[in-house]
Amino acid sequence: MERWKYFDITHRDHMLCNPLDLTNLDELIGLLGLPADARVLDMATGKAELLVRLAERTRVRGVGVDLSPYCIRDARTKASRRGVEASLAFVLADGATFDPGPDPFDLTLCIGASWVFGGHRGTLAALRDRTRAGGQVLVGEPYWRADPPKEYLAAMQLAPGAFLTHAGNVAAGEDVGLVPLYTLVSSPNDWDRYEGLQWRAAERYAVDHPDDPDVPELLKRTRRSRDAYLRDGRDVLGWALYLFRRA
Ligand SMILES: C[S@@+](CC[C@H](N)C(=O)[O-])C[C@H]1O[C@@H](n2cnc3c(N)ncnc32)[C@H](O)[C@@H]1O
Repeated sequence: MERWKYFDITHRDHMLCNPLDLTNLDELIGLLGLPADARVLDMATGKAELLVRLAERTRVRGVGVDLSPYCIRDARTKASRRGVEASLAFVLADGATFDPGPDPFDLTLCIGASWVFGGHRGTLAALRDRTRAGGQVLVGEPYWRADPPKEYLAAMQLAPGAFLTHAGNVAAGEDVGLVPLYTLVSSPNDWDRYEGLQWRAAERYAVDHPDDPDVPELLKRTRRSRDAYLRDGRDVLGWALYLFRRA
């Protein structure tokens, strides 16, 4: 099954494609304290909910990059519906090779897609290099709350070193010369919403599209992930936003 189709189906009811609470996100937008006309780069923007909210509230100018044609389509539609399309540009591209030009940004983001830059540290270093001195870097990343059981790692096809601890995620920023400013940790309720919306979307799609040959794989993957989440993931995996300043 095509990767982008799977993501499009399982995330069709999500505004944010991560375990994030919208009220907490709005509070964080306030904490960013961006001036009007600040320049923002959002790598792996998804449906661009954060970028659109930033444009609505603080009139930033932004670039959102994503490799999924479904996400870029949804992001453009959303920006247009909410009247901020003139401030935002969306680019269908691989974030790893996308060149945003020579001018550094006031805020750079990558929320929940650190594999694009080879992991959490690589993401922080890549964003740092695209951020002006004194500007801010915001990443979203999982962290281990406890040692993961082997069965969970196997089911999710993860290596034990795939993620750090929460403190380790902050220290990784310091390692690349960033100053930690804030963390926003997701709650079990945020996780349950993020996971549950995927199960519901996949099961509904299967009922509505019985002739789609991708349905058996869709259900197999979604149910395997659901079972691993319920058995272990809910206890061992955390998720947080990490805000840094470029020194
Ligand atoms: C978990 S979602 C997060 C989306 C968004 N940041 C959010 O929080 O709602 C991961 C996103 O990464 C995008 N993606 C995956 N590989 C990518 C790549 N190599 N370059 C750019 N985007 C990529 C996917 O299409 C998807 O939109």
